[in-house]
Amino acid sequence: MPEAQIDGQQHRAVSPMSPFDLNNPLAYSRWREEKLAAAPRCAEELIVEVRDPRALSSTEHEALMQRIRRCNMAIYASPALEQDSTIPRELARQFGLEHLDANWLAEEEGISEIQVSGGGTRQSYIPYTDRPIKWHTDGYYNPPERAIRAMVLHCVRSAAEGGENRLMDHELAYLLLRDADPQHLRALMQADAMTIPERVDERDGVRPAQSGPVFSVDATTDSLHMRYTARTRSIEWKQDAATLAAVGALEKLLGSASPYIYRTRLEPGMGLLCNNVLHDRAGFSDDAEHPRLLYRARYYDRIAGS
Ligand SMILES: [Fe+2]
Repeated sequence: MPEAQIDGQQHRAVSPMSPFDLNNPLAYSRWREEKLAAAPRCAEELIVEVRDPRALSSTEHEALMQRIRRCNMAIYASPALEQDSTIPRELARQFGLEHLDANWLAEEEGISEIQVSGGGTRQSYIPYTDRPIKWHTDGYYNPPERAIRAMVLHCVRSAAEGGENRLMDHELAYLLLRDADPQHLRALMQADAMTIPERVDERDGVRPAQSGPVFSVDATTDSLHMRYTARTRSIEWKQDAATLAAVGALEKLLGSASPYIYRTRLEPGMGLLCNNVLHDRAGFSDDAEHPRLLYRARYYDRIAGS
């Protein structure tokens, strides 16, 4: 695809009609107005009660889609309490999500069981502990050909205490940052804004250092994609004033009391379906008899029709 020079930086050209084109303030302001008018103001607005996530009625499907179109996410609440990983998979399939990212820690079929691990390799990865996880999008360390565009988080058992999530539509984060200063977006769309240093993992062996943008526009769907982590270890930000200012503004936004940051806790039978929005997780404590268990399915596809 053609590339354009903007402020001396290489930017992928986005469609001239795209609200994400920084040179098209008119398309942006139209999109912005609609986005803010439609955005939910609390987590309750995200929740749809469904009878069986594996086989949604057309009304239930439409109710979930309506929320996803507004803010890239929806939460279903169901009486499906079984420990059965086909639940998230069958749910996802009804939204065009087919291509799972087979994380090497995931079970064979590519769905991860997120629970506190008693030992082994998983123990060294924060998701498999009871510790808090900072703001991120899933798979921020994946190479572009394995970008995570959507995911499902399905709760089998919740923690005795804690384990809440905060959620934020990454398009709203884009919007609020662009309102604050469009230069933040120029900085965060740079191809070398964020670098994952060289590391070793058991799936791919030595992975070379890898740079990429925080925000990018998916050429095929003209949709906004975000890679981000608030972690300070295993991540290097471009050391220029514009990037550091933009990262600081994003951190400040995510630490604020914005009405667009939704706070919720998934209870058994509930799940989050989203276009890989920003999220975090609070620390938790388990009931030893019934430890917290979530299934996580990550997809290369974006939710169809969103
Ligand atoms: Fe995550």
